[in-house]
Amino acid sequence: MQTGMRIVRKENYDPKELNLNETLFSNANGYIGIRGTLEEGVPDGFPTMRGQYLAGAYEIIPMKQAESLCNLVEKKQTMLNICDTQTIRLTIDGEEFMPAKGGNIRAERILDMEAGYTERTTHWKSPSGKEIRVSVKRMAHFMVKELFTIEYSIEALNFSGEAVIDSCHTAQVANFSDSEDPRLADESPCYLKTVEQGFWKGTSYSVTRAENSGMTIAAATDHIVISEGRSDSMVREEGGCLITRLRIPVRKNSTVTVLKYAAFSDSVREKDPKAKVMQVLSDAMHEDISGLYERQKEYLSRFFERSKMMIEGDDELEEAVRFNMYQLLAAAPCDSHSGIAAKGLTGEGYEGHYFWDTEMYIVPFFTLTDPALARNILSFRYATLDKARSNAKLVGHKKGALYPWRTITGVECSGYFPSGTAAYHINGAISYAVNLYYLATGDDGFMKEMGLEMLIETARLWLDTGVYDRKGRFLIHEVTGPDEYTCMVSNNYYTNACAKYNLETAAGLYERFSSEPEVAALAARLSLSDSEIAEMKAAAEHMYLPYDEEYGINPQDDSFLDKPVWDISKTPKEDFPLLLHYHPLHLYRYQVCKQADTVLAHFLFPSLQSKETMEKSFRYYEKITTHDSSLSTCVFSMTASMLGLKEEALSYFGDSAKLDLMNRHENTKDGVHTANMGGCYMAIVNGFAGLRITSAGLSVDPFVPKGLSSYSFPFTYRGRQLKLSAGTDGAELELISGDDLAVTFRGDEYTVTKEKPWTYRQ
Ligand code: BGC
Repeated sequence: MQTGMRIVRKENYDPKELNLNETLFSNANGYIGIRGTLEEGVPDGFPTMRGQYLAGAYEIIPMKQAESLCNLVEKKQTMLNICDTQTIRLTIDGEEFMPAKGGNIRAERILDMEAGYTERTTHWKSPSGKEIRVSVKRMAHFMVKELFTIEYSIEALNFSGEAVIDSCHTAQVANFSDSEDPRLADESPCYLKTVEQGFWKGTSYSVTRAENSGMTIAAATDHIVISEGRSDSMVREEGGCLITRLRIPVRKNSTVTVLKYAAFSDSVREKDPKAKVMQVLSDAMHEDISGLYERQKEYLSRFFERSKMMIEGDDELEEAVRFNMYQLLAAAPCDSHSGIAAKGLTGEGYEGHYFWDTEMYIVPFFTLTDPALARNILSFRYATLDKARSNAKLVGHKKGALYPWRTITGVECSGYFPSGTAAYHINGAISYAVNLYYLATGDDGFMKEMGLEMLIETARLWLDTGVYDRKGRFLIHEVTGPDEYTCMVSNNYYTNACAKYNLETAAGLYERFSSEPEVAALAARLSLSDSEIAEMKAAAEHMYLPYDEEYGINPQDDSFLDKPVWDISKTPKEDFPLLLHYHPLHLYRYQVCKQADTVLAHFLFPSLQSKETMEKSFRYYEKITTHDSSLSTCVFSMTASMLGLKEEALSYFGDSAKLDLMNRHENTKDGVHTANMGGCYMAIVNGFAGLRITSAGLSVDPFVPKGLSSYSFPFTYRGRQLKLSAGTDGAELELISGDDLAVTFRGDEYTVTKEKPWTYRQ
């Protein structure tokens, strides 16, 4: 066991901690996500979000607008809690084991990131004095995506007797809701109707259907009992629940184990989801469980070989960073039918919707650690390009594609357009990620097949949105930038900078590929002419990027600096996040930012401004940013690194790395914050290590922030494996595999070979 690969927490079954642990110890593999709820259940009134999810499994529900203005979104998709297959109720000689009710002597939870499972161990004493140790090991399999296993072991410590287990499979479950928090759904119906359910040769199965989306979900469970004595098993259906009752003799000082296998499938991926789950179960039960654990471990060892971050000087930080990376892998889709939800597959916050989070914060991580997965993620956006074209039309554009601000299927789901559909910068994030993936991989096939079309259609939207003013500047009106405390503005610096880049790269890459037959065919299909390409270049060249002479900074938008400044230091602590305590209009009238906006633009496009302007801007926005969004501190960290503000870089980074493990935003119970997790990786790689990928190639400029002694990480770039290590006395970039590579350090170019790394001593 390597150190720093295990997250260990006390499980004291405290109601305040319970649903936090449900998130932190959830099991996911990019397809299925099972919250770490207690198999035995909790007493009534305990806060719990008992959820099981499948990537992209959704229902369509009405979202009535109070005033039906033209073309507002009136329906939304919402993620489905698909069923409950994790319930296992245990009684020992008639006494119920429900640890949340008390009787625990010692309990803890572990996430083993090398082995890919979670384990909860509870030493418990029954009211009559019988002591047992129950250990529950759970795994969502990375290689058999439909499979989830529970290894439920009971060790009798001071008695011999009988364990009775009721293992349940319930198809009729409800979604979670909280009408007080806009980041959660406000109603909790049961969306799925049961089509059929029952037992077949001891295997429980259910087939359910979401009526509006038409999606069918199948689930099945079965068991293997490992015990010295003879156990018996009986199945029954009670109150809609499929129950397998297992009676197992337990002997003092020995352990009995129930292996519960569950499989899930859906009609988007499979023609016959029921047949699929039956097959997956049968295959899994024929394979020794140790074989399944072994394969899980091998998968993860390959993942960490490509990505493992080492940080010396702060073990907790290292563990937190790896936890974040593990969670990103667990959230990453295995096909183009789904994206990455803001909370991954760990909870129902934001109803399972995908935002710009994926492309701006997460794709960079996969691009450097698993480019094939990054391609997968981008292919979801390609698969939904037509829907983005329709969305653009709905909003009034004649041309181009406008990706939805929040979605599951590619159709817009944001109910409040000022901080939803108006966030046109989602197009900026997608085009940025497409280009970053391409620069880092040189995957021409991707560009010709998918990338270029996305770049052109997103660029067209800017052409259709922007206007030239009398001074010949290209302006973009009525959009919302990343900062959601300022909405519907003109010339949001961030948006305009993204648009400029989008227009430039679309035109540049089109010209580069235009002689290729596939691209000529694409141009014909899109009716793309040379004059339109020229228009793109002109708009990029004349894009207006606001600058304020007096302050020497880039204003967030045209009217931003004319508003009064919100005094964050005088705002009572309990008023944060502001969005839960102030009417949006009130917030919009102040200079107060929910998250990094111009500061992110500076990080992404540093060549647009002088260092002095960026530093002054950083200092300016620092004072008025609340970081109420989890997408913020990581960006402040990386921009601080870029500007050489080393202390700030570390302090913002610390906040970001442990955000979920320390529950810093007090809402990790609703799911992890995947964008921040990706941003935390970027804060090290792009921030501390100064790794940048541009059309000029790869450059690095590492430093080690105070408080750490060194760090290192492997990464993939243009088919090569490399490893960057930095210590307080210098840095090194090694080429592990692949051809020699030119790398730039502070303007000078070096060639890295397998024999000769790039080194820097200070
Ligand atoms: C942030 C958005 C983000 C969304 C989902 C909001 O709080 O302001 O930028 O996309 O959360 O993570």
